[in-house]
Amino acid sequence: MELSMSFLLVISVIALSPLCLALSSSDGHLYPQFYDHTCPKAQEIVKFFVAKAHAKDPRMAASLLRLHFHDCFVKGCDASVLLDSSGTIISEKRSNPNRDSARGFEVIEEIKTALEEECPVTVSCADILALAARDSTVLTGGPSWDVPLGRRDSLGASISGSNNNIPAPNNTLPTIITKFKLQGLDLVDLVTLLGSHTIGDSRCTSFRQRLYNQTGNGLPDGTLDAAYATELRTHCPRSGGDQNLFFLDFVSPFKFDNQYYKNLMARKGLLSSDEILFTQSAATRELVEKYAENNELFFDQFSKSMVKMGNISPLLGSRGEIRKRCRKVNHH
Ligand code: HEM
Ligand SMILES: *[C@@H]1O[C@H](CO)[C@@H](O)[C@H](O)[C@H]1NC(C)=O
Ligand SMILES: *[C@@H]1O[C@H](CO)[C@@H](O)[C@H](O)[C@H]1NC(C)=O
Repeated sequence: MELSMSFLLVISVIALSPLCLALSSSDGHLYPQFYDHTCPKAQEIVKFFVAKAHAKDPRMAASLLRLHFHDCFVKGCDASVLLDSSGTIISEKRSNPNRDSARGFEVIEEIKTALEEECPVTVSCADILALAARDSTVLTGGPSWDVPLGRRDSLGASISGSNNNIPAPNNTLPTIITKFKLQGLDLVDLVTLLGSHTIGDSRCTSFRQRLYNQTGNGLPDGTLDAAYATELRTHCPRSGGDQNLFFLDFVSPFKFDNQYYKNLMARKGLLSSDEILFTQSAATRELVEKYAENNELFFDQFSKSMVKMGNISPLLGSRGEIRKRCRKVNHH
């Protein structure tokens, strides 16, 4: 009896081993069908709440798209950006790029609550961010793509990573190119992903320097349309009004399209980091011109570059955890 039991055990281990191998090898990368069996309604649920939030606040699409970027550039796409400060964790929400600026956290938390009800401890916060970024793009008229899934959530955050890795609006083009390269993203990814600035807002404090001080940021004179500059100064005085908002793409601020690139060519980019794509290098200028002319080319490459950005150092297999709430790590 005992013998036959152990014989059976050996047989079943041998029989199941190819399956185990198949499972462990699929741990090695992200793929769109990751939740097809464990949480088939996951994508539908994310889409529903993103649409609801966008209906209530049309800017939210932009904010959610940006959150995924600010997540991926810091320790990879691991939802580190969503953690509040507690214990040894210092929240990335306090970093220079995020403070008084990053938004959409309540929407992600609302989605997470719904997903915990549907399939507990299954869908990561990092995957919610990646899906919400795609859904936001589609809702505003942009391209769609299959989102590779299976990221897990970090156990910590990095405020220094947030301060150092995410480019600032007054960084020089070589600095920005270096910061993208450090994430495995090339010049095409850079020019394409910055097309995200076709939607959403910036605070005055992020573009004031461009209005009143043309030195120190590598921008020669004449890179800002005079009438546009006059208009901007009324929204962003020399001092005060730091939090005043202005559209990143003033022509079609809620529509995901290639207008951003047309604005750059008209010297009506809002941020210094936007305009320098057109004024400071032939390679980036060529891409700006191509995208301004061909929306489809922009859309096709945007989908590809978003997948590439979403693939920055994900936590896979048993690394990290699936958080129950996105703003805090689980108790261990
Ligand atoms: C050189 C790289 C980049 C720089 C310097 C940059 C800088 C900025 C700044 C300064 C703002 C305004 C923030 C504020 O004043 O509150 C902003 C907004 C935004 N950024 Fe970027 N960004 C960069 C790349 C990206 C990328 C790669 C994406 C997405 C893939 C992105 C998506 C957005 C969106 C959608 C907004 C509007 C957010 C809202 O309205 O809430 N940006 N960015
Ligand atoms: C860029 O902006 C930051 C924040 O406003 C400022 O502290 C810094 O001096 C600026 N850098 C340059 C080179 O102008
Ligand atoms: C303009 O930028 C330069 C270089 O960053 C800085 O030294 C100077 O103080 C700035 N002037 C103003 C008015 O901000």
